[in-house]
Amino acid sequence: MRTHLPSRKVIAVLTAALLATGMAACGNSDTGGSASGDDGTITLGFSQVGAESGWRTANTTSIKEAATGAGIDLKFDDAQQKQENQIKAIRNFIQQKVDVIAFSPVVESGWDTVLKEAKDAKIPVILTDRSVDSADKSLYKTFLGSDFVKEGRLAGEWLVEQKKAASGPVNIVELQGTTGSAPANDRKKGFAEAIAANPNLKIIASQSGDFTRAGGKQVMEQFLKANPKIDVLFAHNDDMGLGALEAITAAGKVPGKDITIITVDAVKDGMQALADGKFNFIAECSPLLGPQLMDLVKKVHNGEEVPARIETQETTFTQEQAKEALPNRKY
Ligand code: AHR
Repeated sequence: MRTHLPSRKVIAVLTAALLATGMAACGNSDTGGSASGDDGTITLGFSQVGAESGWRTANTTSIKEAATGAGIDLKFDDAQQKQENQIKAIRNFIQQKVDVIAFSPVVESGWDTVLKEAKDAKIPVILTDRSVDSADKSLYKTFLGSDFVKEGRLAGEWLVEQKKAASGPVNIVELQGTTGSAPANDRKKGFAEAIAANPNLKIIASQSGDFTRAGGKQVMEQFLKANPKIDVLFAHNDDMGLGALEAITAAGKVPGKDITIITVDAVKDGMQALADGKFNFIAECSPLLGPQLMDLVKKVHNGEEVPARIETQETTFTQEQAKEALPNRKY
């Protein structure tokens, strides 16, 4: 029986093919070994906070659509509002050797170790929506998101103007976002600083509703039971404000009249409540971060310099402005 030994030419072709495959598997050394295929597609690992609010849903849609539009391979993880899930997801992304990691940190503290692991693996990290309190700024490339202190301040300044003629105490209750999160910490701070301009304005109760409708309703029920005179509700997002509406109505009060309601976000349901006269004022927080994020992903992957902080452009809405803006509201 004759055996067919490969010719020298065939061996040379096979060796070249094996070498090429090996090089592709090693990937781009700048990113510590890349999950991108040999077609140059960038792989982005993104860890989302969860799906706690209308804002979050709009943010997730924006990120997924923008990734598709930009031709970026998105590995999406939903952390269900748990920091340990986000840390696990980031470690998985590192193991998979994605090109870039982005995430919206559920809370501000406790990220140094995992961020250091990403840095050691030479995978650039982008913070989006929320920031971290790490002293070492070299652990991430940039932070894209809102100025939450400003949002709280704008809410407070509007209230100061509305209540400038008040001669007695104005009792305010506050529904805080997720405990330890940047928007909860910062909105609380900005609002408190602004209302300090009028000593009549007093926060009589402040508790977390975890940025959810159910949380907002439940905590507002407690506030109403414990406090016979509530003049103002400041909710750190629309969803908690919407949940609180149910509690207020059930308590026989008229939202927007008996209790002035101020929220943050300006998602469609919140804007509808504002246009209907149930809310009184909203400080906008834009969730449409997807396109800017994908631009940044491409830049950091290419080793380009990016600004350390990119602030989202936002506005505020009164009831009249909400009526005008609603028909064109995208989220
Ligand atoms: O981090 C942004 C905040 O998170 C939004 O205001 C809130 O609705 C969301 O859950």
